[in-house]
Amino acid sequence: MFTFGFRKKEKDELVLDIPKHIAIIMDGNGRWAKKRMQPRIMGHKAGMDALQKVTKAASDMGVKVLTVYAFSTENWSRPEKEVKFIMNLPVEFYDKYVPDLHANNVRIQMIGDHDRLPEATMTALYRAENKTKNNTGLILNFALNYGGRDEITKAVRSIVQDTLDAKFNPGDIDEELIADYLYTGCLPDKLRDPDLVIRTSGEQRLSNFLPWQTAYSELYFTDIAWPDFDEIALRTAIEEYNRRHRRFGGI
Ligand code: FPP
Repeated sequence: MFTFGFRKKEKDELVLDIPKHIAIIMDGNGRWAKKRMQPRIMGHKAGMDALQKVTKAASDMGVKVLTVYAFSTENWSRPEKEVKFIMNLPVEFYDKYVPDLHANNVRIQMIGDHDRLPEATMTALYRAENKTKNNTGLILNFALNYGGRDEITKAVRSIVQDTLDAKFNPGDIDEELIADYLYTGCLPDKLRDPDLVIRTSGEQRLSNFLPWQTAYSELYFTDIAWPDFDEIALRTAIEEYNRRHRRFGGI
């Protein structure tokens, strides 16, 4: 039987290598809503429901970190009403979904520049982080007001400042040190870089998402709009990941 090179556990049961860190660009909410003659914000609402389901599915499969691109530094240029709606999603998310995720041992964290976020958004996220901080299961990592170039710029600034403050010498700056200064420095050491990046809804680019961390990630693009992305779609992406041969520059 053709098994796509997966290891076989028992007869006909394929053992998938589960990526430890999956990062998702949750794209296509607006188009999903438009197709249904609904306002764009309904797509974001449906996207939040999808996120809850996919988080639980990823947790059940044994994924350790799920980083989701919820709002980019470029998304402020959207209509004010839409931005307001997205900014309120964490508040709704906290009330509606966090209790269930907490019961499933999920830990919530966030990355990005949070100075510009409304207070209610931050309060909901801090509460979620705080409530789940002792959980040992999957880390759901929200990238909110996140931009990869902004992240690198801020890291460079801090590194230069710490060099001037004589915390280390320029010669001590290596890849590990830089990784510590990025937002993802808040994640466990070996889990900072995504093994697999998924982008939904047809576009094939990274859009300033984790440029440093994705240097060796496998990229997976699907035409499925984010609100329709589910456990089966996640499994399909992981099966495709299992067909890839990660060589990290080796042979
Ligand atoms: C991109 O689709 C999606 C976003 C900018 C927002 C994603 C946010 C969520 C799925 C909810 C996250 C949940 C919380 C709790 C923050 P798009 O609007 O660009 O879609 P389009 O390309 O079809 O217009």
